[in-house]
Amino acid sequence: MALISPETLELIRTRLDIVELVGECVQLTRTGRSLKARCPFHQERSPSFIVSPERQTFHCFGCGEGGDAFSFVMKTENLTFTEAAEKLAARVGVKIEADRELGPQEKERLKMREANEFAAQHYHNLLKKDPGAQLARAYAAKRHLSKASVDGFLLGYAPRNGALVAAAVKNGFASDLLLRCGLAARRADGSFRDYFFDRFIFPIRDVKGVFVGFGGRTMGDGEPKYLNSPESPVFNKSRVLYGLYEGLAETRKARKAHLMEGYMDVIAAHQHGLKNACAPLGTALTAEHAALIKRYAEKIFVVFDADAAGQTAAVRGAEAAIAAGIQVLVGTVPEGKDPDELLHSKGLAALEGALGSGLEPTPQDFDPSWRYERIKGGYETSKDLVEFKTELLIKKAGELTPEAKSAIAKEILITIVQSPDDVVKDEWVRRLAARLGITEDSLRRAGGKAIPQSNRRLAAAGSSTQPKDNPIMAAAMPPSDLQLLGVLLKTPALTSELQSDDLESASAREIVAALRSIPLKGTWGPRLLDALQPAERAAASRLLNDDLAYDDPAGVLRAMLDKRRRLKRLKEIEPLVLSMGAGRPVDAGLRDEYQRLVVELKGTKR
Ligand code: UTP
Ligand code: MN
Repeated sequence: MALISPETLELIRTRLDIVELVGECVQLTRTGRSLKARCPFHQERSPSFIVSPERQTFHCFGCGEGGDAFSFVMKTENLTFTEAAEKLAARVGVKIEADRELGPQEKERLKMREANEFAAQHYHNLLKKDPGAQLARAYAAKRHLSKASVDGFLLGYAPRNGALVAAAVKNGFASDLLLRCGLAARRADGSFRDYFFDRFIFPIRDVKGVFVGFGGRTMGDGEPKYLNSPESPVFNKSRVLYGLYEGLAETRKARKAHLMEGYMDVIAAHQHGLKNACAPLGTALTAEHAALIKRYAEKIFVVFDADAAGQTAAVRGAEAAIAAGIQVLVGTVPEGKDPDELLHSKGLAALEGALGSGLEPTPQDFDPSWRYERIKGGYETSKDLVEFKTELLIKKAGELTPEAKSAIAKEILITIVQSPDDVVKDEWVRRLAARLGITEDSLRRAGGKAIPQSNRRLAAAGSSTQPKDNPIMAAAMPPSDLQLLGVLLKTPALTSELQSDDLESASAREIVAALRSIPLKGTWGPRLLDALQPAERAAASRLLNDDLAYDDPAGVLRAMLDKRRRLKRLKEIEPLVLSMGAGRPVDAGLRDEYQRLVVELKGTKR
């Protein structure tokens, strides 16, 4: 990965607007010189998340999270600093010069992506314009695919006697590269032919929008129904979710995703306005999928179709999401339909109903943002995965004999132990015991070490039971330091007037040292935050974003410093003066100074 120069970083910073960036994730409302929102990093009812356009920083007074545009992107998308910088650079049109040559493998991957993009565009153009694509266009219509969906997903058509390979070679792609990325296949005589032919084409993009592979559906009854690109250096099915890229903004905004089963379900969902919907490519959800979703959503609604075989497989996949710490809710689509069919026959409300939203129409329904609100708050009554799996197994067992109870308990414990959260595990154990009519104790014993053994032990385990990404604790500082720094950050040019013993805590001194180390031109707030460790950063972020205003911060700071120094002097000489006479020689000058200080500092809390 390229090392990014400070100049480039500075250029990115000057072009960025944190308000715009944050506004894509949360609903911001203006309050005075700042904007506020409900914090995207923790659950809250009333907004304590503040964005300052002046300082180009954000801070949450609820959970302590804070920083600049870079840290915001790092945190929301789980990226490294360099990844975040690259992403933001692309956003504001700053070119990052790679400081080294790409290796041969990277070059090959890059070329494969280009070939895939060429192919996607090629297939799409055929579907849109080719006179020979009449049947494919009719197929699109039959499947209710709107123009927006065809364009948005860049859907395409690979004809029976396709000429992709020929066109690609003509455009400079080597035929063995096309072979390696699954766009070409070899005939028995060694010549190359198109890999996809006579199929409706679904290009697959990764979460960055890079074309990595394709799904091709037969338009008749041929086998297989879907032919997918073979795995290649750029295409790994267990890492890609179809539709995630296309609905990324919505998913991120809602912090929730709907997990569907296939290409057509995802497109139908998007087409009906449910854009936070994606699907694995015909496989169960993997740990890698779950980690990917976790970047953008805390909660997923798994949309299962009604047949039991499909459900058992989907439950297994959903466990990967549980293990990643994602809350998993489950909904089933009735009448043996899949979401695609239900959406086209009965509309989004029917799907939402099937997901168990059970929400009555509210005045929000007349507000254009109602859909978002509903998705955000949505489906409160849908079952969570453990409950769903329990009911599924109980239904299967028929009668709850002791043996059936034991078998179900063991099976459900497998799901429960996936969760990284002891509190959640504990609650599930409690509910499962109640549902099966067995004691919690026996259930806990059956679960062994992976299950918290009792409430008391859970409490005693203390901090180890906290979720691992708990909010950063701001560095603790005495109120006097906080006060001084608060004013200093309003007039940072005076940093040079501070002496090291003006501050009591090491954290405060580090913040001052960081202030000294950065240029204080322009929006320096982000620079300061970058220069600090997490605990100090959280504290500085809080101070940067407080709402205190001073008419004359420099005057206030100087007065504060002055008083502080005098108080310190008073404390220093007090014992000397008070012991004068009693064995100590009298120092009239010191005694005068002391008395003057006492008068001047009258009323000052010592
Ligand atoms: P389905 O058989 O449920 O298909 O497979 P579907 O998505 O409802 O598609 P339509 O409506 O019949 O056109 C679900 C998913 O499993 C994968 C695909 O990703 C598909 O979307 N699959 C299915 C394959 O990869 N290959 C197949 O042969 C079948
Ligand atoms: Mn279908």
